[in-house]
Amino acid sequence: MVFDQALGLLSNELAIDMGTSTTLIHVRGRGILVEEPSVVAVERPSGRIVAFGHEAKRMVGRTPEHISAARPIQEGIIQDFPLAESLLSACVERALGGRGLVRPRLIASVPHGTDIVQRRAVADSARSVGCRELTLVSALIAAGIGCGLPIDEPVGSLVIDIGGGTTEVGVLTLGGLASANTVPTAGDDLDAAIVQWVRERHQLLIGERTAEEIKIGVGCAISPREGRAVQVTGRDLREGIPREITVSSRDVCAALQTPLNRIVDAIQKTLSSTPPELAADVYEHGMVLCGGGAKLSYLDAFLSKATGLRTTIATDPHRCVAIGAGKLLEDEALLKRAALA
Ligand SMILES: Nc1ncnc2c1ncn2[C@@H]1O[C@H](COP(=O)(O)OP(=O)(O)OP(=O)(O)O)[C@@H](O)[C@H]1O
Ligand SMILES: [Mg+2]
Repeated sequence: MVFDQALGLLSNELAIDMGTSTTLIHVRGRGILVEEPSVVAVERPSGRIVAFGHEAKRMVGRTPEHISAARPIQEGIIQDFPLAESLLSACVERALGGRGLVRPRLIASVPHGTDIVQRRAVADSARSVGCRELTLVSALIAAGIGCGLPIDEPVGSLVIDIGGGTTEVGVLTLGGLASANTVPTAGDDLDAAIVQWVRERHQLLIGERTAEEIKIGVGCAISPREGRAVQVTGRDLREGIPREITVSSRDVCAALQTPLNRIVDAIQKTLSSTPPELAADVYEHGMVLCGGGAKLSYLDAFLSKATGLRTTIATDPHRCVAIGAGKLLEDEALLKRAALA
C-alpha cells in the first residue's frame, strides 16, 4: 500500500483513451485524473488554443467568427492531427501536474478495425507529447478488462462499447478477440436523429448540444408508460426567429429507433461470425454494455429484447476503456497479448 502510494507519486505511466467525445487519462497508482470532452477551441488566424475540454465544449455552437470550437476525433479516428495533438498535450500536462520532467510511458487505446495509417496518427500524437515508450492496445480488450470480464480465460465474453462516434462489438476469449465489428453509429448519431426529428416534425432547427441534452434528459430506447418532457428552444425554419416546443420521452424514443437498430445489426453480425463454443458461452453469460451511450435509459432492456441475450450495464460504463488500459499498465503479460502490432 505504502509502496503503491510512493509509486503513484513518482509514476508517469499513463493509459489514454482519446475518444470521439471524451478523453480520459489513467495515471498508474493514482487512477483516472483527466476526464475532458475531446473539444478544442482555437483562435483564427493565429491558431492559438483558447480552451480545451469542458470549457471548449461550452463554446460549441456559440463561438464568434474568429474562434472555432472543434472536435479533432470523429468516429473514433483522428481527423484533425494538429488539434488532436493540442488536446492530448493539454490533457497529459494536466495528468502529470508538475511532474512532467520525466518522459512518460504511454498505453493508448484505438478502436477495433483501425488501419495502419489511423494507428500511426495516434502513435504520432502520443510521441508529440514526448513519451519514452508507447504501446497501442485494442479499445475492445481494454473495455473487457475494465468491465471486469474474465477475458483471460477460455470463455467467450460479449462486450459492446457504445461511445460518441462508434459502437464496437467484440467476443473476447483468452486475452484476445474471437470476432468483432465496429460501426460508425453511436451517441453522435442519436443526437443527429433528434436534430432531424425536431426539424421534420416541428420545422425547428436545434444545435447538437441541445440534442445531446434532450437525449440525456428524456431520451430512452423503449417508450416508457409515464415519460418525461422538456422545453426546447431553437430557430424556426420558416420565420427565422427563436421558438419553444415541448419534446417528450416518447418522441425521442421514436426518433432513436433507426440508429439503435443499426447497433442491433452490428451485434447480430458479430454473433453470426462467432465460433459455436464461444456463442454458447455468450448465450449463457449474456452481454455487457459500456461506453457513455450505455447510459441511455432502457437500452439494456431494448437490446435484450432485440437479441434474446441477458444484458448488463458495466459500473461506470464511460470509464471502462480507461480503467482497463490502466490495469494493463500493471500487467505486462496481458499487455503483450492486448498490444497491437
Ligand atoms: N445519460 C446518458 N444517456 C445517453 N447517452 C449518454 C449519457 N451520458 C453520456 N451519453 C453519451 O455518451 C457518448 C460518449 O460516450 P463515450 O465517452 O464513451 O464516447 P467516446 O469514447 O469519447 O467515443 P468513441 O468511443 O466513439 O470514440 C456521447 O454521445 C454522450 O452523449
Ligand atoms: Mg470510447
